[in-house]
Amino acid sequence: MIKCPLLIIALIMLTVSCTSPPHKNVPQLGKSPVKEVVAAMTREEKVQLIVGMGRFNNNGIRAFFFPPAPEKVPGAAGRTNAIPRLGIPSMVLADGPAGVHINPKRENDNNTYYATSFPVATLLASSWDTLLVKKVAVAFGTEVHEYGIDILLAPGMNIQRNPLGGRNFEYYSEDPVIAGNMAASFVNGIQSNNVGTSLKHFAANNQEFNRMQLNTQVSERALREIYLKGFEIALSKSQPWTVMSSYNLINGTYTSESRDLLTTVLKKEWRFKGFVMTDWSAGKDVVAQTNAGNDMIMPGATAQSNDLLAAINDGRVSEQQLDENVTRILNIIAKSPAFNNYKYADKPDLKKDAQVSRMAATEGMVLLKNNDASLPLTSGKKVSLFGNTTYDLITGGTGSGDVNKPYIISLNQGLANAGYMVDTSLQATYQKYIQEAKANRPKPKIAFLTPKPIAEMTLTSTLLDNEVKNTDAAIVTIGRNAGEGGDRNVTDDFTLTATEAQNLTMISNAFHAQGKKVIVVLNIGGVVEVESWRNKADAILLAWQPGLEGGNAIADVLSGKVNPSGKLAITFPSKYSDIPSARNFPGKELLKDSKTPGNPLMGNPAEVTYDEGIYVGYRYYSTFNIKPAYEFGYGLSYTTFNYGNLTLSDTGFNGKSITAHITVTNSGKVAGKEITQLYISAPAKTLNKPAIELKAFVKTKLLNPGESQQLLFSINAGDLASYDTGMASWIVDAGNYMVKVGASSANIKKTASFTVAKGFVAQKLQHVLVPKAPINELKK
Ligand code: BGC
Repeated sequence: MIKCPLLIIALIMLTVSCTSPPHKNVPQLGKSPVKEVVAAMTREEKVQLIVGMGRFNNNGIRAFFFPPAPEKVPGAAGRTNAIPRLGIPSMVLADGPAGVHINPKRENDNNTYYATSFPVATLLASSWDTLLVKKVAVAFGTEVHEYGIDILLAPGMNIQRNPLGGRNFEYYSEDPVIAGNMAASFVNGIQSNNVGTSLKHFAANNQEFNRMQLNTQVSERALREIYLKGFEIALSKSQPWTVMSSYNLINGTYTSESRDLLTTVLKKEWRFKGFVMTDWSAGKDVVAQTNAGNDMIMPGATAQSNDLLAAINDGRVSEQQLDENVTRILNIIAKSPAFNNYKYADKPDLKKDAQVSRMAATEGMVLLKNNDASLPLTSGKKVSLFGNTTYDLITGGTGSGDVNKPYIISLNQGLANAGYMVDTSLQATYQKYIQEAKANRPKPKIAFLTPKPIAEMTLTSTLLDNEVKNTDAAIVTIGRNAGEGGDRNVTDDFTLTATEAQNLTMISNAFHAQGKKVIVVLNIGGVVEVESWRNKADAILLAWQPGLEGGNAIADVLSGKVNPSGKLAITFPSKYSDIPSARNFPGKELLKDSKTPGNPLMGNPAEVTYDEGIYVGYRYYSTFNIKPAYEFGYGLSYTTFNYGNLTLSDTGFNGKSITAHITVTNSGKVAGKEITQLYISAPAKTLNKPAIELKAFVKTKLLNPGESQQLLFSINAGDLASYDTGMASWIVDAGNYMVKVGASSANIKKTASFTVAKGFVAQKLQHVLVPKAPINELKK
């Protein structure tokens, strides 16, 4: 006899509901309108979608309503939760800007999952070539796609406000026009593979020190003109699937909790259609984040899911806000490879991509000095190679921006491949030294952090005497690395260490005494001091961190196989104290007697005030007449260029646009490319204005000797406008506008001018992100 019929019926129903197809009569993503899918979702499911999932074996073990699915791409930064009932798959999100960041090996699997390390963003930006950046990103995007990733957590595009910023290598420039254009090309390239990107870190996230608890105090004008501008440009020229809000606060509010930033500016003013995700564990309050329009919380934690659900249930988060966030996420999921069930091969064409990486690296290296045409260096020459990173090349920075690459071509290998005779005894000495030093080096507290650099060995005069006798030239590499969780230091990092300086002096004296050349290669991710030592070198090549084919790429440029055409997208100041943010970087801690934080990725509560205002980078040096070591836009070539007449389409501005033409001719003996820059000096009627501002740039094609190219630049009303905080508007002053076209910010070749007869408001906005107290900003 059946004792409990109700229980039996319940069991039968449960069995039926578990075994029958879950989708019967339930709207399915992609088949039904997104609106209907949202309407069919329970609150729990909405929360499930909003709060993501981290690395399974790392910090992501969090079963909320469902147990987490096994990790699809080990080492990827995170995933979104699937809701199979509604046909919603899980997406995979992986770093980062210089190559796919995933684990190269997997348990019980003999295959490898290496990715190409491309040149860092700073190098790509120094190419000033948006087509090149797109080409790199197209190749890079195939790796994203073929490794089963839906969204790449890149590009990084914060302003390189201070050379010590630990993540500068992940960013493009001190200038928002460069940063915005590079980011747009990167997004368009990656997304041409039907995968997504994430513009990060939105916004004013310009340092690592105390990064998760740092309040950035910055004026509305500096935000609009410098720190938001790049994002605005990128969003006007590309449609990234996502934007990542940053760790810091702006004027007292976490960016991930700022409705001003995420809804008013990003979604309303700029009409961003994708979704916003937090940076990993950023901010404090999931309810404030959701209400601000931060659509997705990454990597998510159970407590956040519970808090959010409670807030929905008691009305602190409205259904409308919730549905808006969920809708944005679903719209992106509906175009993801996961949704389209893309059968990825896990075998991207790494060989092909390595060649793209090598080519791109040569395009962004900057020749800083070349006395007496010391470069190119004839192939076949015998060379003495000094400096640790000659043999242990730094291909890219550390942290999430690091890449697990299959190999690295060091500079000694690259030079040998190019036909130089590398002194093998010096090579053996260095390799032994580096191997021992690495074995004894203390491991960083968190594997993710930058390891302590290996000190240079002290050279002896006996060693040098031997080298000079045996070889034709010295190549000295100076290396620097940095990444998440720490900014760089002035001592022994921005400046040379005492050993580096002493070695360089000794090498220089020894080789110059015999009439032999000394060439310095800078293998760095951020700016270093050069003024105190550059007279010791005949030539200096800024090779940045050039990706896995770096050694070959550097050799391509040193040998003249490729004529260098990169120019600086960040100023190299004469000394640290010249930097406009030197006085306030990296800010101060708020609690008295703060201890060094146990986890440097978290930091302590702190604040930094950007009191240099809009005078960042060349805007400062040009306005306040501070001569840098190498100015913004600077870079040499093995050839020379002539600039023809600069002509403007009009002498008066018609309110819409004006075009400028100039012809550039290769006046030297070898083929080369020239980066031509257009700056504007605007009349400072109502506002303080920088002496010059970059508005457009063009890189010529490869011009043969004697060949010319006519270049066209277009300037519109927005390019003439400055942000008037009182009026909360972009305004164009009446007066005379000087157009300055040149080879760098300090090497203007031709000028012309036009007038704006009557001042006008180019765009009326509203006050956002207002500082709590006025900021006493630098003024001219
Ligand atoms: C970084 C992000 C990165 C994320 C996921 C964070 O620590 O700031 O740039 O995308 O981790 O790895």
